[in-house]
Amino acid sequence: MRILRLLVLLLVLPAYAQQGGMWIPSLLKGMNEKEMKSLGMKMSASDIYDVNNSSLKDAVPHFNGGCTSEVISPKGLLLTNHHCGYGEIQAHSTVEHDYLTDGFWAMSLEEELPNPDMEVTFIVRIEDVTAKVLEGVSLISNEQDKQKKIQDNIARLTNSLPKESYQENKIRTFYEGNQYMLFVTETYKDVRLVGAPPSSIGKFGSDTDNWVWPRHTGDFSLFRIYADKNNRPAEYSKDNVPYTPKHYFPISLGGIKENDFTLVFGYPGRTQEYLPSVAVEQIVNVLNPAKIEVRDAALKVADQFMRKDNAIKIQYAAKYASIANYWKKWIGETQGLKQTNAIGIKKAWEKDFMQKVAKSGKQAEYGSLLSYFDKYYKEIEPYTLSRDYFIEVVLRNTELLTIGYRLYQLEQIYNARGEQSFNDRRNNTLQSLESVYKDFNKQVDEKIFEQLIALYATKSPQQFLPEEVKGKDFKALTQEIYSQSKLTGYDAVKDLLTGDAKSVMEKLNNDKGYTLVKAMTEAYINKVSERYEELNSKIAALQRTYMKAILELSPEDARIFPDANSTMRVTYGKVKGYEPRDAVYYEPVTYLEGVMEKYVPGDYEFDVPQKLIELYNKKDFGPYGEKGKMPVCFIGTNHTTGGNSGSPAIDAKGNLIGLNFDRVWEGTMSDIYYDPSICRNIMVDIRYVLFIIDKYAGAGHLVKEMKIVNAKKK
Ligand code: ARG
Ligand code: GLU
Repeated sequence: MRILRLLVLLLVLPAYAQQGGMWIPSLLKGMNEKEMKSLGMKMSASDIYDVNNSSLKDAVPHFNGGCTSEVISPKGLLLTNHHCGYGEIQAHSTVEHDYLTDGFWAMSLEEELPNPDMEVTFIVRIEDVTAKVLEGVSLISNEQDKQKKIQDNIARLTNSLPKESYQENKIRTFYEGNQYMLFVTETYKDVRLVGAPPSSIGKFGSDTDNWVWPRHTGDFSLFRIYADKNNRPAEYSKDNVPYTPKHYFPISLGGIKENDFTLVFGYPGRTQEYLPSVAVEQIVNVLNPAKIEVRDAALKVADQFMRKDNAIKIQYAAKYASIANYWKKWIGETQGLKQTNAIGIKKAWEKDFMQKVAKSGKQAEYGSLLSYFDKYYKEIEPYTLSRDYFIEVVLRNTELLTIGYRLYQLEQIYNARGEQSFNDRRNNTLQSLESVYKDFNKQVDEKIFEQLIALYATKSPQQFLPEEVKGKDFKALTQEIYSQSKLTGYDAVKDLLTGDAKSVMEKLNNDKGYTLVKAMTEAYINKVSERYEELNSKIAALQRTYMKAILELSPEDARIFPDANSTMRVTYGKVKGYEPRDAVYYEPVTYLEGVMEKYVPGDYEFDVPQKLIELYNKKDFGPYGEKGKMPVCFIGTNHTTGGNSGSPAIDAKGNLIGLNFDRVWEGTMSDIYYDPSICRNIMVDIRYVLFIIDKYAGAGHLVKEMKIVNAKKK
C-alpha cells in the first residue's frame, strides 16, 4: 500500500503537493476555479473574491490577529472558536459569573460585553505590487543593499498607495520574496462578546482530545462588530451601532455527506512546504525531538502537581494547555513525516529538480542550490539547536528564567538609554509581572527548573554553554537558586526593583537567579544568535532562489501555492474519512452519541452539562438533527494550519456548513508536507452550533438574526 502510494505520488506529482494548498483569494481564476468546479463547487471565483461587488471575502475578518472569524447576520454577528475567544470570555469571568465554566449568553444588545483590546480586520482588496516593490532592485548586486532597497520601497508604497482615511495599506511577500501583494484593510475595534457555551461543550475533551479525531468539541463563541453611524471603524462607544456587513454567510441546515465539496477561508499563519530534504531531516531527527523532550519534562512535572492540588490546577490550566498544544503537534508531525516518507519523497523530487535544471540550461543559476543548502543546514544545526534550547528552557517553560530574562532586558535598556527609559520600563515590567506571579507556584517551577536546566546543560551543544551550568550538580544548583533568589515571589521582585537604577542594578547582579539568567542569555547572544542570524539569512537567500527556480521550472498547471504568511487564503477539498493505520478507517462525521460515550461525570476534560444530557435523552434536537441523531464534528481534505481556527467551512454554493478548529493527529505534518491520504482538518458542524445556541442556551433570538437555508421540510 505504502509503496504503491509512493509510486503514484512520484508519477503524478508536479510539485511537492498533490491536492492541498492555500491559495490567494484574488488569484483563483484558472487552475483553482477549474479544480474547485471539478470537485463540485457551484460558485465562480468572483463569488469568492471580487473588488467591485460583495463577495465571500467580505464576511471573513482576521480575528484579533491570530484567528479567523466570519459574519453570520446582517447585524454584524460574528462566529469564531471558543479557544479564540477564550481570553475575552475569561476576562469577563468572576467567581460569581464564571462564564468559562457556565457559558455566557447576551439576551439583548445591551447585554453584550465590550472588549477593550480586541479588533477584527477585513480585507477590502488585494493587489499585486511586485513590480513596484522590486523597482530599481535588479541594479543592485549586494544582497544587503538589495534588501534595504526593497524595505524602502515597501515603506514608501505603503504610505503613498491610494486608500481611504479609515483604511490601512499592508504589503506582504509571497514565495519568499518572489511576489509582493498589497492588502487594503479596515479594522473594527468595537467587538463585543455575545455568547459562549460552557467549557464542557466549547472545550470538551480538552488536551486529551486536542489534535485528535474522532472529536466531539463544540469549539465556538459569538461576538458582534460595532461601527460608527457611518458603518465605519470606531473605538468603543456606547453610541456605536451593530455593523452592517457587505456580505454575511447564509447558514445551511442541509447537512453534509462524504465527498461533498468544502471550502475553508481564513488566515493561516505559517507553513514551510518548500524546505529542502536536509532541513526536514533536521526537524525530524534533531530539532523536534529536543523541543519535545524539554516540554515533555515540564508537562510531567506540572501534571503531577495539578492532579494533587486543585488551586495549582487552576493556576496552571492555561499554561499547561498552551505548552501541550505544540508539544503534541510536534510529536504528531514527526511521526507523520516519518510515516509518509516525506524525506524520501523530497529527495526523489530534488533529483528530478536537478535534472530539470540541467535540461533548462540554468546550471549556473540553480545548479548548486541543493549542495549549498546541505552545507549551510549542516553549519547552522548546532546554532539552531542551541537557540531552540534557549527559547524552550529560558523563554518559554521555566518561569523564573523567563522573568529573569525580562529583568535582563531592563538592565540592557538602562545601559543603552539611561535612567528615564529604565523607569518607564520598570513600571511596565512590574505591572505585567504582577499577573505572572498570580499564577506562579514556586514549588512547581522549582521542579521544572531542576529538570530543564539539566537538559539544557547536558543536551544542548556544549561549546556554547556558560561556565555557570557546566558539570554542575543540578539538584544543588536548583536548591541554591530557589532558596536564595528573589525572583521566586512578586514582593521580593518589587523589592529588588525599588530604588534608583544604579542600586537596582547592583541588587540584581547580586541575585543568584538573575546572574544565572544573565550568564545564559549572554552566552546565547555572544556565541549563538549572531552566527545563527548570519547563516539564517544565507539560507533565506537560497530559499528565495530555490522558490524562483521551482516556479520557473514547473509546468504551467503545477500546484505551487505560496507558504502561509498570516494573509487571507482559500483552501478547498472534500468531506472525507481516512485510514490512520492498517485496517482502521475513520468515518468523517461524529454525533452526540460520541459525547455521551466519552462522558466522565465531574471530570475536568470530559464532563457533560446536565441540560445537554437531557436534550440527548429526549432526542430534542429541533430542526438541527438528522435522522434522530445530532451531528457534532466532521473532517475534510482542506489544507489548514494554525490561524485557520475559526475559519468558515463553506459548501458548494457559499453557505456556511461548519467552523474549522483543528487538524487530525496523523496529519499535523501538513505544515511541511501535505499528504492527501491522511491530512484532514476538523470542523464543528454548524447545526451543532445552532443547536447549542437555540436548544441548549435558549438564545434562539440569535438564530432569528441569521439567514437559514436548506431547512428540512417537516
Ligand atoms: N490544536 C488546536 C489549535 O492549535 C486547538 C488548541 C486549543 N485547544 C486546546 N485543548 N489546547 O491550535
Ligand atoms: N487550532 C488551530 C488554531 O488555533 C488550528 C488547527 C491547526 O493548526 O490546523 O489556529
